[in-house]
Amino acid sequence: MSSNPVEQYSLIRQMTADDLDCVVEIDQAAYPYPWTRGIFADCIRAAYDCFALQLGEDLIAYTIQSTAAGGNHLLNLCVAPRWQRNGYGKLMLNHVIRHARLQKCTSMFLEVRPSNPSGFRLYEQKGFAIVGKRPGYYRADDGREDAIVMRLDL
Ligand SMILES: CC(C)(COP(=O)(O)OP(=O)(O)OC[C@H]1O[C@@H](n2cnc3c(N)ncnc32)[C@H](O)[C@@H]1OP(=O)(O)O)[C@@H](O)C(=O)NCCC(=O)NCCS
Repeated sequence: MSSNPVEQYSLIRQMTADDLDCVVEIDQAAYPYPWTRGIFADCIRAAYDCFALQLGEDLIAYTIQSTAAGGNHLLNLCVAPRWQRNGYGKLMLNHVIRHARLQKCTSMFLEVRPSNPSGFRLYEQKGFAIVGKRPGYYRADDGREDAIVMRLDL
Protein backbone atom coordinates (compact mmCIF):
# COMPACT_ATOMS: atom_id res chain seq x y z
CA MET A 1 0.00 0.00 0.00
CA SER A 2 1.20 3.53 -0.76
CA SER A 3 2.53 5.60 2.14
CA ASN A 4 1.29 8.80 0.47
CA PRO A 5 -2.07 9.74 2.13
CA VAL A 6 -3.31 11.34 -1.11
CA GLU A 7 -2.96 7.94 -2.82
CA GLN A 8 -3.79 5.80 0.20
CA TYR A 9 -7.35 6.99 0.75
CA SER A 10 -8.42 7.63 -2.84
CA LEU A 11 -9.47 5.42 -5.70
CA ILE A 12 -9.20 6.16 -9.41
CA ARG A 13 -11.83 4.37 -11.49
CA GLN A 14 -13.64 4.67 -14.82
CA MET A 15 -16.20 7.48 -14.98
CA THR A 16 -19.71 6.25 -15.90
CA ALA A 17 -22.98 7.89 -16.90
CA ASP A 18 -24.07 7.60 -13.24
CA ASP A 19 -21.36 10.14 -12.35
CA LEU A 20 -22.65 12.84 -14.69
CA ASP A 21 -24.64 14.86 -12.13
CA CYS A 22 -21.64 15.12 -9.88
CA VAL A 23 -19.13 15.79 -12.68
CA VAL A 24 -21.29 18.54 -14.19
CA GLU A 25 -21.71 20.17 -10.77
CA ILE A 26 -17.94 20.20 -10.19
CA ASP A 27 -17.23 21.49 -13.70
CA GLN A 28 -19.68 24.35 -13.18
CA ALA A 29 -18.07 25.25 -9.88
CA ALA A 30 -14.49 25.02 -11.17
CA TYR A 31 -14.56 26.66 -14.62
CA PRO A 32 -15.78 30.07 -15.80
CA TYR A 33 -17.09 28.34 -18.96
CA PRO A 34 -17.94 24.78 -17.99
CA TRP A 35 -18.68 21.92 -20.37
CA THR A 36 -22.31 20.92 -20.88
CA ARG A 37 -23.68 17.61 -19.62
CA GLY A 38 -24.00 16.60 -23.29
CA ILE A 39 -20.26 16.99 -23.88
CA PHE A 40 -19.43 14.71 -20.94
CA ALA A 41 -22.07 12.19 -22.03
CA ASP A 42 -20.60 12.17 -25.56
CA CYS A 43 -17.10 11.57 -24.20
CA ILE A 44 -18.32 8.51 -22.28
CA ARG A 45 -20.35 7.28 -25.27
CA ALA A 46 -17.39 7.75 -27.61
CA ALA A 47 -15.31 5.60 -25.25
CA TYR A 48 -12.80 8.33 -24.50
CA ASP A 49 -10.76 7.48 -21.43
CA CYS A 50 -12.71 9.09 -18.60
CA PHE A 51 -11.50 8.64 -15.04
CA ALA A 52 -13.01 9.64 -11.71
CA LEU A 53 -11.24 10.07 -8.40
CA GLN A 54 -13.27 8.79 -5.50
CA LEU A 55 -12.56 9.82 -1.92
CA GLY A 56 -14.82 7.79 0.33
CA GLU A 57 -18.33 8.34 -1.00
CA ASP A 58 -17.40 11.47 -2.90
CA LEU A 59 -16.25 11.98 -6.47
CA ILE A 60 -13.77 14.83 -6.16
CA ALA A 61 -11.87 14.96 -9.47
CA TYR A 62 -11.97 13.66 -13.02
CA THR A 63 -10.07 13.50 -16.27
CA ILE A 64 -10.95 13.01 -19.92
CA GLN A 65 -8.37 12.00 -22.50
CA SER A 66 -8.42 10.64 -26.03
CA THR A 67 -5.88 8.71 -28.03
CA ALA A 68 -5.28 8.99 -31.76
CA ALA A 69 -2.32 8.02 -33.92
CA GLY A 70 0.03 7.49 -31.01
CA GLY A 71 -0.76 10.86 -29.47
CA ASN A 72 -2.78 11.42 -26.33
CA HIS A 73 -4.90 14.54 -25.83
CA LEU A 74 -5.80 15.59 -22.30
CA LEU A 75 -9.18 17.26 -22.74
CA ASN A 76 -10.15 17.92 -19.14
CA LEU A 77 -8.56 17.61 -15.71
CA CYS A 78 -10.51 19.06 -12.85
CA VAL A 79 -10.48 18.91 -9.06
CA ALA A 80 -13.54 20.07 -7.08
CA PRO A 81 -12.75 23.55 -5.68
CA ARG A 82 -12.94 22.50 -2.02
CA TRP A 83 -10.36 19.75 -2.62
CA GLN A 84 -7.88 21.80 -4.63
CA ARG A 85 -4.28 22.32 -3.43
CA ASN A 86 -4.14 18.91 -1.75
CA GLY A 87 -2.15 17.05 -4.38
CA TYR A 88 -5.13 15.50 -6.21
CA GLY A 89 -4.45 17.38 -9.46
CA LYS A 90 -0.91 15.99 -9.50
CA LEU A 91 -2.24 12.52 -8.67
CA MET A 92 -4.67 12.61 -11.60
CA LEU A 93 -2.07 14.03 -13.98
CA ASN A 94 0.31 11.20 -13.07
CA HIS A 95 -2.51 8.74 -13.67
CA VAL A 96 -3.38 10.01 -17.16
CA ILE A 97 0.29 10.02 -18.13
CA ARG A 98 0.67 6.42 -16.94
CA HIS A 99 -2.46 5.47 -18.84
CA ALA A 100 -1.20 7.12 -22.04
CA ARG A 101 2.10 5.25 -21.74
CA LEU A 102 0.19 1.97 -21.35
CA GLN A 103 -1.60 2.84 -24.60
CA LYS A 104 1.87 3.15 -26.20
CA CYS A 105 1.38 6.87 -26.84
CA THR A 106 4.57 8.77 -27.50
CA SER A 107 3.29 12.22 -26.58
CA MET A 108 0.57 13.97 -24.67
CA PHE A 109 -0.96 17.31 -25.71
CA LEU A 110 -3.23 19.72 -23.90
CA GLU A 111 -4.53 23.27 -24.06
CA VAL A 112 -4.55 25.67 -21.14
CA ARG A 113 -5.68 29.27 -20.74
CA PRO A 114 -2.92 31.84 -20.15
CA SER A 115 -5.23 33.18 -17.40
CA ASN A 116 -5.08 29.82 -15.57
CA PRO A 117 -1.82 29.86 -13.58
CA SER A 118 -2.82 26.81 -11.48
CA GLY A 119 -3.25 24.61 -14.54
CA PHE A 120 -0.22 26.05 -16.31
CA ARG A 121 2.06 25.55 -13.29
CA LEU A 122 0.79 22.00 -12.74
CA TYR A 123 1.66 21.02 -16.32
CA GLU A 124 4.92 22.93 -16.44
CA GLN A 125 6.06 21.31 -13.20
CA LYS A 126 5.39 17.88 -14.71
CA GLY A 127 7.61 18.70 -17.70
CA PHE A 128 5.07 19.83 -20.31
CA ALA A 129 6.58 22.36 -22.72
CA ILE A 130 4.83 25.10 -24.68
CA VAL A 131 4.68 24.09 -28.34
CA GLY A 132 2.21 26.59 -29.75
CA LYS A 133 -0.88 28.66 -29.37
CA ARG A 134 -4.45 28.40 -30.68
CA PRO A 135 -5.69 31.95 -31.28
CA GLY A 136 -9.15 32.72 -29.87
CA TYR A 137 -9.66 29.12 -28.75
CA TYR A 138 -11.61 29.84 -25.55
CA ARG A 139 -14.64 31.94 -24.70
CA ALA A 140 -13.81 34.85 -22.41
CA ASP A 141 -15.69 37.69 -20.77
CA ASP A 142 -14.25 40.22 -23.21
CA GLY A 143 -14.49 38.02 -26.31
CA ARG A 144 -12.03 35.18 -26.88
CA GLU A 145 -8.84 33.98 -25.19
CA ASP A 146 -5.95 32.14 -26.87
CA ALA A 147 -4.99 28.65 -25.75
CA ILE A 148 -1.43 27.72 -24.86
CA VAL A 149 -0.69 24.29 -26.39
CA MET A 150 1.63 22.12 -24.30
CA ARG A 151 3.27 18.76 -25.01
CA LEU A 152 4.96 16.11 -22.93
CA ASP A 153 7.11 13.47 -24.63
CA LEU A 154 6.21 10.18 -23.01
C1 LIG B 1 -5.47 23.00 -12.03
C2 LIG B 1 -5.95 22.00 -10.97
C3 LIG B 1 -6.33 20.70 -11.68
C4 LIG B 1 -4.83 21.72 -9.97
O1 LIG B 1 -5.29 20.73 -9.08
P1 LIG B 1 -4.87 20.75 -7.52
O2 LIG B 1 -5.36 19.49 -6.91
O3 LIG B 1 -5.31 22.01 -6.90
O4 LIG B 1 -3.29 20.76 -7.65
P2 LIG B 1 -2.22 20.07 -6.68
O5 LIG B 1 -2.56 20.33 -5.25
O6 LIG B 1 -2.04 18.66 -7.10
O7 LIG B 1 -0.91 20.93 -7.03
C5 LIG B 1 -0.07 20.51 -8.07
C6 LIG B 1 0.65 21.70 -8.65
O8 LIG B 1 -0.28 22.51 -9.39
C7 LIG B 1 0.15 23.87 -9.30
N1 LIG B 1 -0.90 24.66 -8.64
C8 LIG B 1 -2.06 24.18 -8.11
N2 LIG B 1 -2.80 25.20 -7.62
C9 LIG B 1 -2.08 26.34 -7.83
C10 LIG B 1 -2.32 27.71 -7.57
N3 LIG B 1 -3.44 28.13 -6.96
N4 LIG B 1 -1.38 28.60 -7.98
C11 LIG B 1 -0.25 28.20 -8.60
N5 LIG B 1 0.03 26.90 -8.86
C12 LIG B 1 -0.87 25.98 -8.50
C13 LIG B 1 1.43 23.90 -8.51
O9 LIG B 1 2.48 23.73 -9.44
C14 LIG B 1 1.28 22.64 -7.66
O10 LIG B 1 2.50 22.13 -7.22
P3 LIG B 1 3.08 22.56 -5.77
O11 LIG B 1 2.02 22.19 -4.79
O12 LIG B 1 4.34 21.75 -5.66
O13 LIG B 1 3.29 24.03 -5.84
C15 LIG B 1 -7.15 22.58 -10.16
O14 LIG B 1 -6.81 23.87 -9.71
C16 LIG B 1 -8.44 22.68 -10.96
O15 LIG B 1 -9.17 21.70 -11.08
N6 LIG B 1 -8.72 23.89 -11.52
C17 LIG B 1 -9.97 24.09 -12.26
C18 LIG B 1 -9.96 23.30 -13.55
C19 LIG B 1 -8.72 23.59 -14.37
O16 LIG B 1 -8.32 24.74 -14.52
N7 LIG B 1 -8.14 22.52 -14.93
C20 LIG B 1 -7.00 22.62 -15.83
C21 LIG B 1 -7.51 23.01 -17.15
S1 LIG B 1 -6.25 23.08 -18.35
